[in-house]
Amino acid sequence: MKRIVILASGNGSNFEAIVKTARKEKWPVEIVSLITDNPHAYAIKRAKRLRIPCKLLNYKEFDSKDSYNKELFKILKEFSPDLIVLAGYMRILPPYIVRAFRWRIVNIHPALLPAFRGLHAIERAYKAGCKVTGVTVHFVDEGVDTGPIIAQRCIEIREGESLEHLERRIHRVEHKLYPTVIKKLLFGDE
Ligand code: GRF
Repeated sequence: MKRIVILASGNGSNFEAIVKTARKEKWPVEIVSLITDNPHAYAIKRAKRLRIPCKLLNYKEFDSKDSYNKELFKILKEFSPDLIVLAGYMRILPPYIVRAFRWRIVNIHPALLPAFRGLHAIERAYKAGCKVTGVTVHFVDEGVDTGPIIAQRCIEIREGESLEHLERRIHRVEHKLYPTVIKKLLFGDE
């Protein structure tokens, strides 16, 4: 049984897509926990509904970023995951966590990296007038959205398409691509 831990700060739709795909395809995997820094994250409700344990590390209750990250590190080590999956986790992991789990932390980004790193990537690509954007899954390194790319999908931005419509299409692609990549990382091509 492989062990995965998922970190999310918000909606959690990727988290849910991973759980549902793993269950549907009967991956030999334990989704050990959702970890969130945000007590208002909708991902928490999803975790309850999906019966996945949820660990809330309320960022605001820590006196510093440092103490928050130390606690996060401690918990991650206790969970001893084969893979740490960032799914809309809005904080930057400190270098010592990245080093401790090198090649075992992945992230999904809603643009074709290295374009549009950072926040609001869908909107920035849309407003820049791009004709094509996409989704990237990459390993996490010490930078922000800079780690080695594992997989990408292109998405054409249609003539006259609204931002909301594009966002919906991008999320649909994410919900397929992320589980596919995670499965391959954990189990290879078997
Ligand atoms: C996704 O668009 C992902 O690419 C980005 O954050 C968003 C998270 O969405 N990193 P959700 O919380 O999984 O619905």
